[in-house]
Parts: sequence; C-alpha cells; structure tokens
Amino acid sequence: MQKNIQLNRRNFLVNAGVSIAAATIVPGQAQGLSIGSNSDSASEQLSWAAVRAQFDLMSRDHIHLSSFFLTSHPRPVREAIERHRRAIDENPFEYIEKNMFEMPGKIQAAVSEYLGGKPEEIAITNSTTMGLALVYHGLPLKSGQEILTTAHDHFVHHEAIRLSAERAGAMVKKIALFDDIKAVSESEIIGRIKNSITSKTRVVGITWVHSGTGLKLPVRAIANSIAEANKDRAESDRILLVVDGVHGFGVEDETVAEMGADFFIAGTHKWIFGPRGTGIVWAKRENWKMLRMIFPAFAIEPFSAWINDRKLNVPTQASWITQGGFHAFEYEWALPAAFAFHKQIGRSRIAGQIRNLNDQCKEGLAAMRHVKLYTPRGNRLSSGLICFEIEGMRSGEVVKRLLAHRIIASTSPYKESYARLAPSLLNTPAEIETALKHINALA
Ligand SMILES: Cc1ncc(COP(=O)(O)O)c(C=O)c1O
Repeated sequence: MQKNIQLNRRNFLVNAGVSIAAATIVPGQAQGLSIGSNSDSASEQLSWAAVRAQFDLMSRDHIHLSSFFLTSHPRPVREAIERHRRAIDENPFEYIEKNMFEMPGKIQAAVSEYLGGKPEEIAITNSTTMGLALVYHGLPLKSGQEILTTAHDHFVHHEAIRLSAERAGAMVKKIALFDDIKAVSESEIIGRIKNSITSKTRVVGITWVHSGTGLKLPVRAIANSIAEANKDRAESDRILLVVDGVHGFGVEDETVAEMGADFFIAGTHKWIFGPRGTGIVWAKRENWKMLRMIFPAFAIEPFSAWINDRKLNVPTQASWITQGGFHAFEYEWALPAAFAFHKQIGRSRIAGQIRNLNDQCKEGLAAMRHVKLYTPRGNRLSSGLICFEIEGMRSGEVVKRLLAHRIIASTSPYKESYARLAPSLLNTPAEIETALKHINALA
C-alpha cells in the first residue's frame, strides 16, 4: 500500500513531478500599485483627467459609451501584465513555479479588501459566465426542487440555470419583475419574488443591474425578504440567493459581502478594469462547503486525496472552485493592479462620478419627445447603464447613426433590444452633452 504522503504548498508540484522553489514576489511588483508617473501614493486622489489618461484608447476623438462591454486596460493593469509576461517569457518554469501558489492569495486579498469579505471567500474565475456555471452546477440541487429566476437576466445566466437544472432534474420558474418598467418600484420587485417562492424553491437567481434595461435591483431588500422566507426552513432546504453582479461591481459603492447574497458572481474585466479574461465568485465559507467541484483544482487537499488514494477530508473551499491547470497567468496575476487603481480613485468617488454622468444623460434623454427612456431615472433603481428607443428607428440604426458621429453606443442582446449607453469614468460631462445633441438630432 502507498504510504500517506503529506502535502503542502511547497511540495504540491514536487509530487506532481515538478520541483518548486521558495516563492518570493517583489513587493508592489505583482500588485501594480503605482499609477505610472502620476503618483506612487495610494492615498493621493487622481483627477478625472488623470484617470482617463490611464487608458490607451486609440480613438480619443471617439466618445466611448460602451466601455462596460469589455475593458480597455488602464495603465497600471497593462504594466502589471507586461511585467508578468516578460518574466514568464524569460523563464516560464521558474517564474510560474515561484508564483503560482502565492499569487492566488494576493488576488483573493485584493478582491476581498474591495468587496468587504475575507480572502478565503473568493474564487478566481475567467468571467461572469464561468462563475455562474461553476456555482449553478456545483449547487446541491435535488430532483423536484426549483430555481426561481427572472425574465430579465442575461443569456449566460439563464443557460447556466437551464443546464444545471436539467442535470439535477430540477425545475426552473422565470418571472417578470414588472409589467411596465416605467412604473416599476422596489416593493413590486420584492413582492413578486416573495410571492413566487414555494416550498420547492431552493435557489433564487437574480441580476444586480440588468444589461437589458439598466434596472438595478434592490439586492439587500430581496435578500432580507428571502431570509424571512428561510426562517422555518432546515439548512438543507434553505433558499440560496445567487447574484450576477457584473454591472454593479466597480460601479456601486456597496460592500458586496454584506448585501445578503449567498453567491455573488462578477467578471472583473468590465467595470473593475481588470485584465480581460478575469472574474470572481464570492461566498461565505459555509456556502462554499455545499458546492460540488466541477473542475480539478490545483489545491493541496484534492491533490493529497488523489495521491493518497483517499476521500477528501474537508468540505469544498473557495480556492478549489478556481479551475486548476495553467492559465494566462500574466493576465490573472495583474488583477490586484485593477483593485489598487479603484482604491486609489476611491469607491465612493467612482460611484458618484458614474451617477452624475448617468443622471445627466438620463435627464437629457427624458426631455426628448422622440426618445423612450426605459431605465429608471435617479439612482435608486438604476446604475451605469441606460437603455432607450427612438421613435420609428430600430436600435441597430440608432447605434449606426451615432457611430457616424464617433459615438460608440451598443444594442442590448435581449428579445427586446434597445439602444444602450454606459457613461463611465472614461467620459466627461461635455461628451455626454455631445452624445445628447446627436441623439436629439435623430428626431
Ligand atoms: C448581466 C450580464 N451577465 C453576464 C454577462 C457575461 O459576462 P462575461 O463576459 O464576464 O462572461 C454579461 C455580458 O455583458 C451581462 O450583461
């Protein structure tokens, strides 16, 4: 019989047939804390012009109102990627061996500092899509149980639900949270979810900010209402709240870990400005415990169990949900630089700036008779996305005409597709005025 092999971070790869050296990372190097020539101090406030200058947008003569789609890397992120890329190209074996067990912890620390949780509560993924799939497929769903979701979520969210429910023999119920978005209210949203919960409901899957209308859900209030419904339920029957948070993460001044979600999923390559191909899932330790792994993890306990031909000794942890294998490490390891950039600007300043630009844009659109604005005004039920229609014009045509004026808008990829604008840190009030002027001229 094989003797029990004790494994730790150091000898994980030794036992996998690869040697591992002591891991040392030059402080600040992996974190990408400096913002080019602007400042080395995380406490110094960057002006909005300085923030915009960090982006390498080819076309400064364009007005970028679709930056949420996939980020342009800001300078600190580009520099961190480049540092890692160069080091890997110079010596892939040694650089990766030195860093691959240290960097996940640093990334978890950076993410958890931003969202208010603990490092061990973070799984690193490559997108919102991947995070949603990992969570829904890992949930302990039983045949006959139900996932309650809404008619307003993104394609990838609905697909993750459909595929996981099919496998478990679970059911899916999709509800509309409003009949007319013009009249939508917080109490209506909460009431519709509450009234749709039955004894079969095991999961409620929602989206923080809808990319089809720009509606922002009151996640905390929904979580409170679900907590109320959970009062008389056994732990094994507890309703779990899964949130696709991608369009609120990096926009709203929220402490995500306190919002009441059981699983919070977001790509970090949109509003967070992280490296393209990065994302996270946050959940408390007790929630990670119930998740089944889908991918083999590069983690000590699963490896140790495998090599010693035994069962896993401890329940699932967040780090086991990060898929194993070699990744595009120069990208993944540059993620802390994006959170350092956000920290340097300030989460509440970011939220305030995005809110002001969106208010300006929505008020301008609301005043135009030929425009039908779908996104609620103010910021209680909306965030950084604005959806609208122009009377008698298809959304694709609106986007095309704006592009002719160097304004980059998008259409929303939903059954009812609207024209969409996303005023962000990359924009100025003057740019919003210019965009409004051209939309006005489309009458
Ligand atoms: C609400 C929502 N969820 C998920 C996604 C997919 O995100 P990702 O590209 O990070 O997988 C999108 C795409 O923009 C989205 O709008």
